[in-house]
Amino acid sequence: MGKYDIDWNLYADISRRAAAEGAVLLKNDNKALPIKKGETASVFGRIQLDYYKSGTGSGGMVNTRYVVGILDALKNCKDIYINKDLLGIYEEWVKEHPCNRGIHWGEEPWSQEEMPLTDEVVSNAALNSDLAVVIIGRTAGEDKDSSAEKGSYLLTDLEEDMLQKVCKAFKRVAVVLNVGNIIDMKWVDTYNPAAVLYAWHGGQEGGNSVLDVLTGEVTPCGKLSDTIAYNIEDYPSTAYFGDKKRNFYAEDIFVGYRYFETVAKDKVMYPFGFGLSYTTFKTENILFQVPKFDGQESDCQLKHDKSGIVNILVKVTNTGDVKGKEVVQAYLSAPQGKLGKPSRELKAFGKTKELAPGSNETIELSISVKDIASYDDSGVTGHKSCYVLEAGKYEFYVGTDVRNAALSGVLEIAELIVVEELEEAVAPKIAYERLHANETVAGVELVNEATPLRTIDLQKRIIDGRPEEIPYTGDKGYKLGDVFDNKISLDEFLAQLSDEDLIHMSRGEGMSSPKVTPGTAGAFGGVTDNLHGFGIPVGCCADGPSGIRMDCGTYAFSMPNGTCLACSFNTELVKELYVMEGKELRKNRVDTLLGPGLNIHRNPLNGRNFEYFSEDPLLTGKMAVACLSGMHEFGVTGTIKHFAGNNQEFGRNESDSVISERALREIYLKGFEIAVKEGKARSVMSTYGALNGIWTAGNYDLLTTILRKEWGFKGIVMTDWWAKMNEDGEETAAHTNTQYMVRAQNDLYMVVENAAKNTGNDILEESFNNGVVTRGELIRNAANICYMLMNSPVMERFLGRMSEEEKAASENAQNEDNIAFDLAYQRIEDDTLLDLTGLKTGRGDTTMFALNFAKRGLYDISLKVKSHSGELAQMPVTISIDRSIVSMITINGTNGEWINVTRDLGVIFNQNCYLKIYFAQGGMEVDEIRISIREEIDLKKIMEDKTKEEDNE
Ligand code: BGC
Repeated sequence: MGKYDIDWNLYADISRRAAAEGAVLLKNDNKALPIKKGETASVFGRIQLDYYKSGTGSGGMVNTRYVVGILDALKNCKDIYINKDLLGIYEEWVKEHPCNRGIHWGEEPWSQEEMPLTDEVVSNAALNSDLAVVIIGRTAGEDKDSSAEKGSYLLTDLEEDMLQKVCKAFKRVAVVLNVGNIIDMKWVDTYNPAAVLYAWHGGQEGGNSVLDVLTGEVTPCGKLSDTIAYNIEDYPSTAYFGDKKRNFYAEDIFVGYRYFETVAKDKVMYPFGFGLSYTTFKTENILFQVPKFDGQESDCQLKHDKSGIVNILVKVTNTGDVKGKEVVQAYLSAPQGKLGKPSRELKAFGKTKELAPGSNETIELSISVKDIASYDDSGVTGHKSCYVLEAGKYEFYVGTDVRNAALSGVLEIAELIVVEELEEAVAPKIAYERLHANETVAGVELVNEATPLRTIDLQKRIIDGRPEEIPYTGDKGYKLGDVFDNKISLDEFLAQLSDEDLIHMSRGEGMSSPKVTPGTAGAFGGVTDNLHGFGIPVGCCADGPSGIRMDCGTYAFSMPNGTCLACSFNTELVKELYVMEGKELRKNRVDTLLGPGLNIHRNPLNGRNFEYFSEDPLLTGKMAVACLSGMHEFGVTGTIKHFAGNNQEFGRNESDSVISERALREIYLKGFEIAVKEGKARSVMSTYGALNGIWTAGNYDLLTTILRKEWGFKGIVMTDWWAKMNEDGEETAAHTNTQYMVRAQNDLYMVVENAAKNTGNDILEESFNNGVVTRGELIRNAANICYMLMNSPVMERFLGRMSEEEKAASENAQNEDNIAFDLAYQRIEDDTLLDLTGLKTGRGDTTMFALNFAKRGLYDISLKVKSHSGELAQMPVTISIDRSIVSMITINGTNGEWINVTRDLGVIFNQNCYLKIYFAQGGMEVDEIRISIREEIDLKKIMEDKTKEEDNE
């Protein structure tokens, strides 16, 4: 198998291990789990038959070859038995109550109707089995936040009834949660099941992962990446969550455990970082080593000056009787000083390899001193816009969750140290109060204080920062390949591009652009004939965080969700998984995945939390680094998103996230910063909404001052699909305002249908003529796009330099998956005859066409066919659009006469599709294929109606 060929079994195996390591065991009384060999389980809950592999929306739309649900895996397992009578009851019931996946975007319900249980069914099951496994499922996603109501964050009455009956009848009950996100857990106290396992959405191998944990094949070793509080109201963000217009982040840096551990410990049901195992571990601090500052002695055990790094060595010994892995976590408690600090902040973590009983491993946790500093956004320390270490004791706590972490050592700072001097950026403009930690004799309390507001002149900063113009030279015959080969500079190359070319280059095309891999989200770079003529290739991007989404139906691997991966706390394993993802992207000629998602789990109700990792920025950043470095091994990358503050779906196009500069830098931007600096991210997606009054796609300070100037980001920023922009001070934003996008150094507007003809959809030409945008700015952005392309596989492929090995793998892929990378698209108007010259079919032949529909609507397909066989001959023909079969026709022999058959082609929604015709028998001739519209669908009107509906809500 060559470097570029995918070993699907290996892929499945890594994914299975990753989701098993991400599963978090919260309770396991009397060793209820694992299920022992030869035992019988009664499985309750209809989700056993309808496993959720992922959340909904763009982050979940992966066409998988298969999905292994929990029941599938249990059934396949030879070592344990399942109660078949009970299963039969569920199977019958589900026939009448099929799973509702919703028809339209965002319509899938959060949960599925549960089967009512009688006492008799449950008690019979208890007689016939050793334990009960109860499976409860939830989903949510893009455009669909969860809600603090029954069926979403809370259990339904029928689910409660199921738990009540099952827990009464069985001594041993294990509840498995197939959810994208944390849910209310108070029912654990009410019904007291013996075991509770968060299994998340584990992708296509998810059921197998759960099986491995249930049977003890894998000893649970996942840890919560979020705090589970008793009530949704306990999260300080809940009071602000969901406002369509403006969302004040009044809790400031006190997100998740930073809040609970500081002032509300008793509200926590399961702390951050918590997760049980089937074995036990002893953790011992064997070294705590700090650098010295200003000659200050500290109470470390070993005084060895290793500048700028705190080193902690922890010996972990497996003291139980089964193999297992453990996660050690180091938390900081910084002196309150004038800034006020959370009483715990995760600063490092490490996971052991699998330890056999009695064996041990020493984990090294290294913390850079600059990473324990806090950001002063008010100037209260005398150092406004700086990261500072205030004087005092910096205590380091080590443990296996935030609550049990014990003091490991102290670093003492004698006088304030300025660690990094920055400039004020993205500060809020609207006055509001935020939480501030105050030290009193009784302990730390959180009080309100006025949030520091913007003091800089943003317009001046934008104008002063304008790049120099590069005068237009006209076409000198240089191609981008000449820059790639170091023959000329990028500036010399770009000088040849006309203003019009540069404007066109700021537009990405999609979705399902015929210029790139079919069914993907977008194309960028050389999207017009002119740009292409300059040797600029067309880059391809595809969703998303849980696997490659190709709407034409090409199969891809569906991976565990972000939350699940984060809970594994295993960056090496996540990297291994993303090496496979990188290979798959390369095979499909996708240059950048639209993921991973890095937004902070500010509130459990955010519908897209499943795509994101954690409430903690360090864990988020490290997971993103793992994903990126995996994909980088195959030359492709990921687009880290959504930058920044996309913490709710409700009103996501309009809502303004009002966040202090400190909370941005310490919490909401931190993961992105790590992904850029450590993970070498080269592609970023901004959000739909606004951050401190400026829609992020046009937010100069976010995208230029912080991302590029401070962090040294090199690469592209793209908008989210059909995002809006505004000018500082404008209360509303518009899709047409791409001039602000260009100015802010958001390089690409995603997406338009035709980059060369976008009249009426943006006002860039006009703004350029009025001087709002300069040629210098357009060139600067074009340079970013060219940089990205030159660092992507598409460049070498474009230059014809694909290695023989890659070429062979690509050909295999085309045959294996029917990916027609080079098929020319045919335009379909109201009534169109396909380009076809007399087709003679053989048995099992497939004919494929790439179609570009002028209109969305209901279509018919007619075939003019003949065969020399007699009337009793059966010649089945299957017609598919993308991967879905739309019609199956059995044509009888026609004795050599031409006949016409017409069938429904269904609803054509995607403008670009594959039409596939499969001939099960040979000996047929096809003379004409005609496609005609029956009824047009007015998408614009549907969208307008939806917006009206939302506004009325
Ligand atoms: C989502 C993005 C996604 C894009 C392309 C948008 O609706 O918010 O996350 O990458 O669509 O599918």
